Amino acid sequence: MGSAVGLGNIWRFPYLAGSNGGGAFLIPYLVGIAVCGLPLLMFEYAAGRHYRLGVMGAFKAMSRRYEVVGLAIAAMVFFILSYYLVVAGWTLGYLIATPIGKEAGFSAFTATWWPVACFVVTAVVCCGVVMLGVTKGIERTSRALLPLLAVVIVLMAGYGMTLEGRGEALSFLFKPDLSALGDPLVWARGFSQAFFSLGVGMGVMITYGSYMARESAIARSSVIVASGDVSVALLAGLAIFPLVFTFGGPPGAGPQLAFETLPQVFSHMPGGMLVGSAFYLLLFVAALTSAVSMLQVVAATISDRTGWSTSRATRWLVLPLLGLGLLSALSYAPADLRFFGQPVLDLMDTTFGTFGLLVGALVTCIAIFWLADGLAMKEQVGHGAPRRFVAWSGFLLGRYVAPITLLASLATLAASLIVLGELRGR
Ligand code: PFF
Repeated sequence: MGSAVGLGNIWRFPYLAGSNGGGAFLIPYLVGIAVCGLPLLMFEYAAGRHYRLGVMGAFKAMSRRYEVVGLAIAAMVFFILSYYLVVAGWTLGYLIATPIGKEAGFSAFTATWWPVACFVVTAVVCCGVVMLGVTKGIERTSRALLPLLAVVIVLMAGYGMTLEGRGEALSFLFKPDLSALGDPLVWARGFSQAFFSLGVGMGVMITYGSYMARESAIARSSVIVASGDVSVALLAGLAIFPLVFTFGGPPGAGPQLAFETLPQVFSHMPGGMLVGSAFYLLLFVAALTSAVSMLQVVAATISDRTGWSTSRATRWLVLPLLGLGLLSALSYAPADLRFFGQPVLDLMDTTFGTFGLLVGALVTCIAIFWLADGLAMKEQVGHGAPRRFVAWSGFLLGRYVAPITLLASLATLAASLIVLGELRGR
């Protein structure tokens, strides 16, 4: 849950829902969770626990030629991590600004070099945590703080429900404009958000599964993680959209959506400064736990290939990570760095967080459901659960429905050349 709940729920979900038809976005997102995300989550844990290896090792154990696919997934995670840390840095910036009573409007914030400084600090802290091997400590911290984060979001959503814009917000979120579903990009983004939010298709859950105790019930844990993750995303929507509709501002503002609206909650709500500081602190911890898990996948892949320790591998990653992340950080700073007319961060999120992740999920499905030892996988998932049902439904979905759905959504995208249109600027 620590890896799943993060910026994906509170930053990415509302911004994508806001710019992809609101309630209409919920349909592909929820279908993506149920049809592909949950089966993948269960079987990624299963593969990890069966092979007791990280993504590259597990893929290699399934088929020698697949090792390079594991390597490519680790590279994609590295790209996602580079901009994820930039957004985590924004959280840190707001965490500093809120208690000192600085009005943290997003455009004022990005008119300074603070976002870049905060990114550098966050990236260094993330590398430090992995290098020092203090992930156990951060796990314990997140176990204590995550429930608190949920409480604060419930409070914020409750406050949102007292606002004038709540009616409009509720119908925006829950009354889908079905015409938006004709757009293949809405499906692609909904699906990839399901994977991003659960943290599947990136090899992370394979790695986590490799640490899982034999007696843990995989199916049960997966259902709990998925429902907790969806609940936090929906609550974040309920906290953010009433504000958007009460105080104005377009719901389709893009990646800055949460960071424009959240300061407004805290400046209006009673005790806002305290709640705000707590919120940013908790969100920063949630983001850091997710970032640490991504960096570990990359570092573990390097150390598997080179025989270096995780710490040494991480040390080698610091500079490339800073260099790559800087491109995204500079796109929301006075430098206003853009490629193809779009801020680099938006482009990274579309290229790697959306399309890359769809490909990552597809190849993971193929590896786990077609190449891995099927009986062993079913055995792992069936343990402690209505055995046949879980194993078979997971396998049917994972083996046929998920890859076909993923292929169809990628093919439609390629055919309609929307990717190119998207790259050229919205
Ligand atoms: N699931 C995390 C979130 O929603 O913020 C993001 C994430 C964490 C993705 C860990 C991938 C991962 F390995």
